[in-house]
Amino acid sequence: MSQETAVAGEGCRVNLAGQVALVTGASRGIGQAIATRLAACGASVACVARTLEALESTLSTIRNAGGSADGYAANVADRADVERVVEAVEARTGKIQILVNNAGITRDGLMLRMEDDAWQDVIDTNLKGTFLFSKAVGACMMRGRYGRIVNISSVAGIVGNPGQANYSASKAGVIGFSRTIARELASRGITVNVVAPGFIATDMTNVLPEKIKTEVKDRIPVRRFGTPDDIADLVCYLASPGASYLTGQVIAVDGGMTA
Ligand code: NAI
Repeated sequence: MSQETAVAGEGCRVNLAGQVALVTGASRGIGQAIATRLAACGASVACVARTLEALESTLSTIRNAGGSADGYAANVADRADVERVVEAVEARTGKIQILVNNAGITRDGLMLRMEDDAWQDVIDTNLKGTFLFSKAVGACMMRGRYGRIVNISSVAGIVGNPGQANYSASKAGVIGFSRTIARELASRGITVNVVAPGFIATDMTNVLPEKIKTEVKDRIPVRRFGTPDDIADLVCYLASPGASYLTGQVIAVDGGMTA
C-alpha cells in the first residue's frame, strides 16, 4: 500500500492510489458515501452535483480526512454541462479511470395519473444522465484502454414498484444500457456493472410516510434499511483493478429483498 493510501485510506480494502474517479450526485446520500469511500481508498475524486454549494460538505469531509477531491456543478441531463465537466476533469487530471453514475431523482405517482413531465424528468436524469456521462467518460477511458463504470440502478428496476412507473422504467433502462455497453467496451479493458440498492436510508427515502417505511422493513429479510456505506463498499470493489473479470452484472444490495 502506498503512503498516500495509508494516510487517506485507513481500513480501506482496495488501493485506488493514483486513480481519478468521477461520481455524480455526490452532494449527499449514497453518492456522498461513494465519493468519500473512493477517496479513502486513494482515488482523487471529481464530485458532481447541480451546485457547488451543495458539494461543500462532501469536499470538506474528504479533504479533512487527507483525501483529494474537486467539485463540479452540472445537470447530468444536459449534454453541454456533461461535456464541459468531463473536459475540465480531463484538463485537470489528464485521465478518468472510474465513473460512478449515481445521480437520480424520483417523481412518484400512479401511472394513470402521471403527467408527461414527471415521466420525462425522471427518465432524463436517471437514464439519459447515465448515457451522457458514460459516453463522455467512456471516450476518455477508451484512450487509456482501462476503465471501471458503475451505474446505480434500483431493485425497482428489477421487480417494479407501484407508484414508480417512471423511476422503475429509468432504472430498468440503466440495466439494459449497462449490459450493452459492457459488451461494447469489454475488449478495451473497461468494465461496466450495476449496483441495485434496496431501501437505503437517505434524504430520498426519509420523505416517505412512516407507514410505508414499516411495510418495507417487514419485507426485508435482514430486518433493517441499508446504509449508504453498504452501497459504497461494493462500488469501491467494482471500481478496483482487481474486479477486471466482472462485467455486465447487476448486483442487488437489498438485505435479501429480491432473493
Ligand atoms: P439523494 O436524493 O439523497 O441524492 C441524489 C443526488 O443526486 C444528490 O446529490 C442530487 O443533487 C443529485 N442529482 C439529482 N438530480 C441531478 C441532476 N439532474 N444533476 C446533477 N445531480 C443531480 O438520493 P440517494 O438516496 O442518495 O440515491 C442515490 C442513487 O441511488 C439514485 O440514483 C437513486 O435512484 C438510487 N437509489 C436509492 C435508493 C434509496 O433507497 N435511497 C434505492 C435504490 C436506488
